[in-house]
Amino acid sequence: MPIWPPQHRLTMKIAIAILASSLVSTGFGLESSPNLVRVLGPQAVNLWRLDAEAKAKTLGNAALRVQDSNESLNPLAEFPVQVFEQPLDHFGGVNGTFNQRYWVNSRHFTSGGPVIVLDGGETSGEDRLQFLDTGIVEILAKATGGLGVVLEHRYYGESIPVPDFSTDNLRFLSNEQAAADSANFMANVKFEGIKDDLTAPKTPWIYYGGSYAGARAAHMKILYPDLVFGAIASSGVTHAALSNWQYMDIIRRAADPTCMRNIEQSIRIVDTILTTRVFARPLKGLFGLADLEHDVDFVSTIESPLGSWQSKNWNPAIGSTRFDTFCAAVNTAPEGMANFTDLPFGARERLVHITDGSALISPSRIMLNTLKTTLLPAAVPPSRSASEPLTIPNTKLSGSIKTGGFGLSKSALNGDTSPYAAKLLPRTAPPDPRTPRIISKLLTLDYESKICKQAYPPGKHFTVPPFPNVTAVNVLGDFAIAADRLAIIDGEVDPWRPDTPHSEDAKPRPDTALRPFKLIPDAVHHYDEYGLADMFAEPPEILKIHNEMIIFVQDWLADFKAPDKV
Ligand SMILES: *[C@@H]1O[C@H](CO)[C@@H](O)[C@H](O)[C@H]1NC(C)=O
Ligand SMILES: *[C@@H]1O[C@H](CO)[C@@H](O)[C@H](O)[C@H]1NC(C)=O
Ligand SMILES: *[C@@H]1O[C@H](CO)[C@@H](O)[C@H](O)[C@H]1NC(C)=O
Ligand SMILES: *[C@@H]1O[C@H](CO)[C@@H](O)[C@H](O)[C@H]1NC(C)=O
Repeated sequence: MPIWPPQHRLTMKIAIAILASSLVSTGFGLESSPNLVRVLGPQAVNLWRLDAEAKAKTLGNAALRVQDSNESLNPLAEFPVQVFEQPLDHFGGVNGTFNQRYWVNSRHFTSGGPVIVLDGGETSGEDRLQFLDTGIVEILAKATGGLGVVLEHRYYGESIPVPDFSTDNLRFLSNEQAAADSANFMANVKFEGIKDDLTAPKTPWIYYGGSYAGARAAHMKILYPDLVFGAIASSGVTHAALSNWQYMDIIRRAADPTCMRNIEQSIRIVDTILTTRVFARPLKGLFGLADLEHDVDFVSTIESPLGSWQSKNWNPAIGSTRFDTFCAAVNTAPEGMANFTDLPFGARERLVHITDGSALISPSRIMLNTLKTTLLPAAVPPSRSASEPLTIPNTKLSGSIKTGGFGLSKSALNGDTSPYAAKLLPRTAPPDPRTPRIISKLLTLDYESKICKQAYPPGKHFTVPPFPNVTAVNVLGDFAIAADRLAIIDGEVDPWRPDTPHSEDAKPRPDTALRPFKLIPDAVHHYDEYGLADMFAEPPEILKIHNEMIIFVQDWLADFKAPDKV
């Protein structure tokens, strides 16, 4: 047990002093309000601001270009928003329509060229415009004389078909409805200023998606083979599962080993302390979270920096460095303390005191370090960056629930009616307690799924099912999903890889021109989706995959015959 013996009280006092100064220097208060900002202190507000700035960067250099006051170079100005009228309910029953937003890049279009459409997935379509400007859509459109399109997903951005996100109104947010939107768009859209009929199947459409939208791209190829000529599923999570302990395991195996070992050891201590009950509150207090009622909310919060692994990007202008900052802090001795990298984990010098009367607990210096960094990522507001967690497709809810860590704290949910919807693929601890882990054993499927039930009480027309029907998704192909002109592209160290056809549980398959199957070395989440204006300035692995994609798409298009000419 990590309880300090009395002979170590002197060391303990030093530790208190360090802890106190650390609290002051990081600006974390211990206020009692459960309100997120207040709990996390003014530092958090700063981080929200920084996050907003980082988000601006995700639009390529749009922000900078606007500062140059050259509107013609701002992708938002170059690609004005357009709308397409969609039925609220494609399958009858309820009347009503809504406007689905889309954006068009016609820089390279020449008569006879294909349409390259990017499925916006679970975020505002505006977050995807970088891919129209310098990313995969621009790259493929340029290589094929094609028209590039970003299509916003229903219930995201401004393609909102309902007045509010009550449980009942969420019943039109399903995989089937969203897929039918895309099909209807492809078959009927009339592009402004272009006289050619570019509807499918007269014109070949290449359907691209990354992550959740990657699964949608693969599913579109299976569900609408006559409309979707070719599809590219990048980091496509085609395997639906109720929980996903392998997500964190990929990170544990791929990230800096010293950092991972430190976190593994710390988490074991945290779990041990939490089981004592007596010391749970002071432990949470060390993180400024003494008032979190449920221990599981606490471990969910301190887990959050690990989630930023998936926001890494090969392009530093876009990617998050949060994970590396976190690990650097975990690996570095706190200010004023010696460099004790070489000391064993339980060494006295590494211990930290948690104050609560006579309770003396000694988690380790890692706790102290995490203080400085852990809570920062937890303060990320619900409108996260473009490349963050998403979800499995599921029959009734295909959104992405973003809770910023406070999974079950009531305040985080009260009055919040946006469809933040679902950490639908809960990141749980490994089922076998002997498996090494970097998150608390309290993070179970049961906890992770409660969020849905709390956020969405039963309505009159619709009740969120206790668990999603994963079979309904997996019948479309699961790990083995395949079709001619369906490309599967994944990242070697993508935490979502266990849910893609590149899972270690999937059967290996060949990489062919007709059925490309490519794993990008050292890549995280849909790395091929990003690109530079000058493709040749991209890192070698990215340039390589982009070249391969251009070649297989050109090969596919060479085989295209319009239906009436067959
Ligand atoms: C804005 O961009 C256009 C197109 O590249 C260019 O011709 C023009 O000179 C630029 N204007 C300014 C003020 O930079
Ligand atoms: C939907 O519209 C059709 C045709 O206008 C009409 O016949 C029907 O009654 C409407 N249904 C509902 C539920 O409003
Ligand atoms: C701490 O010591 C280790 C091993 O001697 C060394 O590799 C590391 O660079 C040192 N770190 C700092 C911050 O001085
Ligand atoms: C789940 O989906 C499958 C396939 O669509 C269906 O056969 C099954 O009845 C569904 N199960 C439930 C509980 O709805």
